[in-house]
Amino acid sequence: MAPRVCPWWLGYFLASPLRRLMLEPEKVVRPFVREGMTVLEPGPGMGFFTVELARLVGPSGRVVAVDIQPKMLAGLKRRVAKAGLFNRVEARLVSPGSLGVTDLKGRVDFTLAFAVVHELPDAGAFFVEVAQASKPGAGFLLVEPAGHVKETEFHAELEAVARAGFSVVDHPSVRRSQAALLKRDS
Ligand SMILES: C[S@@+](CC[C@H](N)C(=O)[O-])C[C@H]1O[C@@H](n2cnc3c(N)ncnc32)[C@H](O)[C@@H]1O
Repeated sequence: MAPRVCPWWLGYFLASPLRRLMLEPEKVVRPFVREGMTVLEPGPGMGFFTVELARLVGPSGRVVAVDIQPKMLAGLKRRVAKAGLFNRVEARLVSPGSLGVTDLKGRVDFTLAFAVVHELPDAGAFFVEVAQASKPGAGFLLVEPAGHVKETEFHAELEAVARAGFSVVDHPSVRRSQAALLKRDS
C-alpha cells in the first residue's frame, strides 16, 4: 500500500503554538546548526522547524525546504515572512518521486527529516538523494513519530540510510519520537 501523506490541513496544527508546548523546535535543532550553513529540510510542512533553522543559519546561510504540497509551502512562506527570514529560505515544490536537489550536490551541511520518511514512496532512494546533496561529514537528523513508525521500521530506515553512506553518531532524545543523528561518510 502507498504510504499516507499528512493532509495539508494538519499542517496548521503541526506549526501551531500548541505543538510548541510539547516540543520546542529550537531545542531539537540548535545543537546541529551553525551560522552560514546550507540546510536541507525535506517535508517541512508549514515551517515549524524552518523558522528556527533560518534563524540559526543567519544572514549568510540558507534553508532549502522541499515539499510536495503547495498549501504546506504557502503556510511555510507566510510564517517565514512574518519572522522576517524570507531571504534565507528557498521553498521548493517537488513531486513525490524525487527531492529535486541535484543542484545542491555536495553543498549541504545539515539535513533535517522530521516525521517525513515514513510518508515517502521509496526511503532508500530518498537517502541516496540526501547523501548526494551532503558534504562529506555533513549532519543528518532523522526523526520519526513513535506512534506511526514501529521500532523495527525505524531500524529498517537506519539500515537503508547506512547503505546510502551515513553512519549513526547518536540517538538524541526527542519527545514521542525515534531519532538518529547521522554523519555523511567521507
Ligand atoms: C507529518 S508532516 C511533517 C512536517 C514537518 N516536518 C513537521 O514536523 O512539522 C510530513 C510532511 O512531509 C511532506 N511530504 C510527504 N511526502 C513527501 C515527499 N515525497 N517529498 C517531500 N515532502 C513530502 C508532507 O507534504 C508534509 O508536509
